[in-house]
Amino acid sequence: MVSGLAACYVVNNGGTAAWSSSSSSWKTSTTAPRAPPPRLVAFRRRRMTTMNMIATGATCISRRESSSTTAEVLRSLDGWAESNLLPLLKPVESSWQPHDLLPDSASPGFRDAVDELRARAREIPDDYYVCLVGNMVTEEALPTYHAALNSFVGYDCPSRGDAWARWSRGWTAEENRHGDLLNRYLYLSGRVDVRRVEQTIHHLIGSGMRLAADKCPFRGFIYTAFQERATAISHGNTARRAGALGDACLARICGAIAGDEKRHEAAYTRVVAELFARAPDAAVRALEYMMRERILMPAYYMFDGRDPDLFRHYAAVAQRLGVYTTADYADLVRFFVHRWGVADLGPGLTAEGRRAQDYVCRLPERVSKMEQREDARRRRQEPCRVPFSWVFGRQVELQL
Ligand SMILES: [Fe+2]
Ligand SMILES: [Fe+2]
Repeated sequence: MVSGLAACYVVNNGGTAAWSSSSSSWKTSTTAPRAPPPRLVAFRRRRMTTMNMIATGATCISRRESSSTTAEVLRSLDGWAESNLLPLLKPVESSWQPHDLLPDSASPGFRDAVDELRARAREIPDDYYVCLVGNMVTEEALPTYHAALNSFVGYDCPSRGDAWARWSRGWTAEENRHGDLLNRYLYLSGRVDVRRVEQTIHHLIGSGMRLAADKCPFRGFIYTAFQERATAISHGNTARRAGALGDACLARICGAIAGDEKRHEAAYTRVVAELFARAPDAAVRALEYMMRERILMPAYYMFDGRDPDLFRHYAAVAQRLGVYTTADYADLVRFFVHRWGVADLGPGLTAEGRRAQDYVCRLPERVSKMEQREDARRRRQEPCRVPFSWVFGRQVELQL
């Protein structure tokens, strides 16, 4: 899932909304999120006070409802998942493996192949590697995402055989190749401080993530659909950029991952569409909740042991390179509101559901306007240079 991306999206109940300049995120909040690591508290407080506030009248699925009604809907979808979701996993035999895209360590030509890889890597600038490391670090926190997915599909036993459990295992197995592939490529490239990168992964898995789904499958699948589309964009853009820089092998690496993410996006988008079809009132309120709560990028808590603003700086580099931007996030909101037919939900909505529908339908325009204002603000800023431990402390240009 989940890959890096420059950005975060989020949703909180009952509050206010704002664009996060450094993380491409749409934010709203009133309820207090789980406490972040201490090093992030001051930083996050500073960011929250700079938000543009938009009045709301929040509604959401209650905790009671999220643990009963929504779980029942999910159980009723097991047969649907068997025939509509599981086919979106690729059989192992026809799936690419990291070994297919990297020099063969058992081949006599291994050293020459590595030399060629490293020669190509030397032509690629540091800002690209910052984006690639951010994507890789995000992928490597897969244990967190596997646990999060299981929390909202109610999968608590590794031998369970229902469709949701098999999807969870199969999806995780596919995702596991992403971090492996990027990690091995970066190790061979000689372009990054591997130990610093490994420490960042260690910190991130230890810090967890903020999902804000409260084990509610409606909210959880909405979050995951956003994530998969965002990661597809991010990996797709690193692939295109590698091609433009003349490294076709690296372009294939990033492109293979982007292809997986597109398939995963299709799966989770399909799940949410089915939830909208079967329980539109709960679905639209869950979407409103997530949009207000914010969809934070899963790597938001990344830390390399040095830079307390690492995610913000990484996101700013991705923004500057066009790997993942605030405009991409605005497009995501527009895409999903349209894809899930929110404007066309019938007259069966409750008053709360209608308020949620109204809020969500107005959101794409709001997000676009905020993105345009943020873009104009950023253009007025002088670029600055920030050292990244991932590239041996060399400075990389960005705009905050
Ligand atoms: Fe994915
Ligand atoms: Fe992934």
